[in-house]
Amino acid sequence: MKPVELSKNVFFQQVNHFNRRLFDSLIPLPEGTSYNSYLVKGRDKTALLDTADPEKRETFFDFLKDVKSLDYVVAHHAEQDHSGSIPFVLEKYPLAKVVANPKCKELLMSHLQIPAEKFIEVKDYDVLDLGGKTLQFIYTPWVHWPETMVTYLKEDRILFSCDFFGSHLATGAVFSEENIVHDPMKRYYAEIMMPFRTNIKSNLEKLKGLDLAMIAPSHGPVHKNVAFVKGLYQDWAVGDTKNNVLVAYVSMHGSTAMLVNRLVSRLQELGVAVEKLNLEQLDEGRVAMALVDASTIVIGTPTVLAGPHPKAVYGAYLANALRPKAKFVSVVGSYGWGGKAVEIIAGMIPNIKAEVLKPVMIKGRPTEADLAQIDELAALIAEKHKSPAPLRPENQAAMGAA
Ligand code: FEO
Repeated sequence: MKPVELSKNVFFQQVNHFNRRLFDSLIPLPEGTSYNSYLVKGRDKTALLDTADPEKRETFFDFLKDVKSLDYVVAHHAEQDHSGSIPFVLEKYPLAKVVANPKCKELLMSHLQIPAEKFIEVKDYDVLDLGGKTLQFIYTPWVHWPETMVTYLKEDRILFSCDFFGSHLATGAVFSEENIVHDPMKRYYAEIMMPFRTNIKSNLEKLKGLDLAMIAPSHGPVHKNVAFVKGLYQDWAVGDTKNNVLVAYVSMHGSTAMLVNRLVSRLQELGVAVEKLNLEQLDEGRVAMALVDASTIVIGTPTVLAGPHPKAVYGAYLANALRPKAKFVSVVGSYGWGGKAVEIIAGMIPNIKAEVLKPVMIKGRPTEADLAQIDELAALIAEKHKSPAPLRPENQAAMGAA
């Protein structure tokens, strides 16, 4: 694919990574990803906005082969999937300066060892005139690192948003289609942005007044459907939870699975949507997506070495780290002779400020009396969902995931 001219002298350089299957050695990428950079040519100066993961720098530099001179590299974010090729860009264009905010400069100096003299620092709302192309830099901290910022190209009404509004989606398509981009965007939001909902909300407010023709993220296709994309983020980050339950479970000899299956059936009979996910073959992205809308989270676990199954521990850890909006939580499971599975799970989810609904832990194989307890739990969940509690106070994330 060649650079695509989005607007006069504004070029989209989409480096697709179709066969990448993991990000951060953690996040599954079922549809690969892309590292997007943008080239903006003014009358006097030329700026490159972001770069690409160094693993794909050959493709990235192919896009630049006809670019004879470069004045600026705008770094929106120091994470290496966008910044990692900056040192190579500076080798090719030794006169170019890196345009970054002070926090991003600090991170790039430490992570990529770019010398201080290579930088031009910009403040919030500073502008850079390229000659008929005016770049305005807007700080959008914590989407999802502390230094993140976006650029607004005034003349063309394009917002270069880096990770914000992105999707891990390798595609030959330049522009997003709503039905195709929805799930990859939701997965991306859930995995990357959800822990920072408070910051997302304030940054959405900050960008609200911009007149936008396009949002150009640094992963996935470019969005012309601006209202649709902003509406999704508004719903996910600010909107209420849905009449949904996430049941994330693992079972060893079938007892916990029996409880889970009964719970799912009863909830569905009561009109509650359920996402049942077996933690044995965990797709972290599926769990994260289910957490976006779930009003209730139920962890299902057998007892192993007096505590929860390690895969349930991981599921609980993940849910806690992602800080979902859920209002209710519970635990169902089984034990052989004793243990503290419920207490240990409960102690692992302090970030989920939810009401705990009475857990159901049973000994051995479930009896009818045990299953009746599950029916009661299902009825309680359905009732709770009908009279929604106020949204819990938002958590201010203290640290970002790298
Ligand atoms: Fe796409 Fe946070 O890097």
